[in-house]
Amino acid sequence: MSLVFSGIQPTGNLHLGNYLGAVRQWVALQAQHPCLFCIVDLHAITVPQDPAALRQAVLEVAAAFIASGINPDKSPIYVQSRVAAHAELAWILSCHTPLGWLNRMTQFKEKAGKAKDNAVLGLYSYPVLMAADILLYRATHVPVGEDQKQHLELARDIAGAFNRHYNSETFILPEPLIPAAAARIMSLRDGTKKMSKSDESDYSRINLKDDNDALRLKIQKAKTDPLPLPETVAALEGRPEAANLLQIYAAITGVTLAEAVAQYAGQTFSAFKKDLTEALVAHLAPIREEMARLLTDPAQLSVHLKNGQQAAENIAQNTIENVRQQIGL
Ligand code: AMP
Ligand code: TRP
Repeated sequence: MSLVFSGIQPTGNLHLGNYLGAVRQWVALQAQHPCLFCIVDLHAITVPQDPAALRQAVLEVAAAFIASGINPDKSPIYVQSRVAAHAELAWILSCHTPLGWLNRMTQFKEKAGKAKDNAVLGLYSYPVLMAADILLYRATHVPVGEDQKQHLELARDIAGAFNRHYNSETFILPEPLIPAAAARIMSLRDGTKKMSKSDESDYSRINLKDDNDALRLKIQKAKTDPLPLPETVAALEGRPEAANLLQIYAAITGVTLAEAVAQYAGQTFSAFKKDLTEALVAHLAPIREEMARLLTDPAQLSVHLKNGQQAAENIAQNTIENVRQQIGL
């Protein structure tokens, strides 16, 4: 039996990278598989959060999921902290995870920066909680962007180590599903940096909440280079901004990168940017409007989250009881 599981942190705005790298894939997957989608607020608090903003961000992410096409009646959406088994399993797994494995995690190194001694423990053990999220549901497939690949490998290692230690088949080793295109959408200001919620400049990203004027302005201001658009995909080498914008265009209009390159070969950025803007507006405006509509009824969103929680708890309970039993708790 297959089960797709994924999660997104409720911090700030969801952006085009989250949408193309993750959420859009989830929408497609729910047609073929049972799915479970988690709003990972416990992961969000590994960095300081404003309580009111965090609460609001949870609702906004739920609205973004539904507006993007996730059907909450079919694919439960729920909040991580409401299912206590996540935290319990994370603790248990942390007692089965060698420090050496965590020391390899590049995301921690990036996020902790130079002042490692001041980084909080939760930031360091973040990948163990993520492993718990996935293993708790015996998920078989985990759609994520490229940046989460290493965490997925760790989840597999932890699952394998636990199973061997207790000579059991408690956990399933999850497979990452990384989209072939759009696995890494880059910043609009610097084509070598990932588009991210935490970038200081709002011009670096397209938010799902951006109105059409903001979309236009951001694409207009997006960094380019002085050359016309390339004739071949190979000629994108060394032109990260051109590559990123063409990649976005391809992903949003549903053509391949090669097709997008062929379509704009030799043209100016200004002609291409005009079409890119219109494609983004056509695709994102209905999602933004639906999100806004859903957010006018937070009580209804809470009902979806509550139903999702119950569905999640039903599965989680089985796993956690099995785990306690094996360990002797
Ligand atoms: P986060 O915003 O870190 O909670 O990420 C949520 C999901 O979006 C994960 O599956 C990430 O891999 C994916 N993601 C985040 N940023 C990008 C990006 N710039 N390009 C593609 N996928 C991304
Ligand atoms: N760490 C992921 C991210 O930042 C979010 C996440 C938490 C997640 N738990 C998960 C993703 C479980 C997939 C499965 O993007």
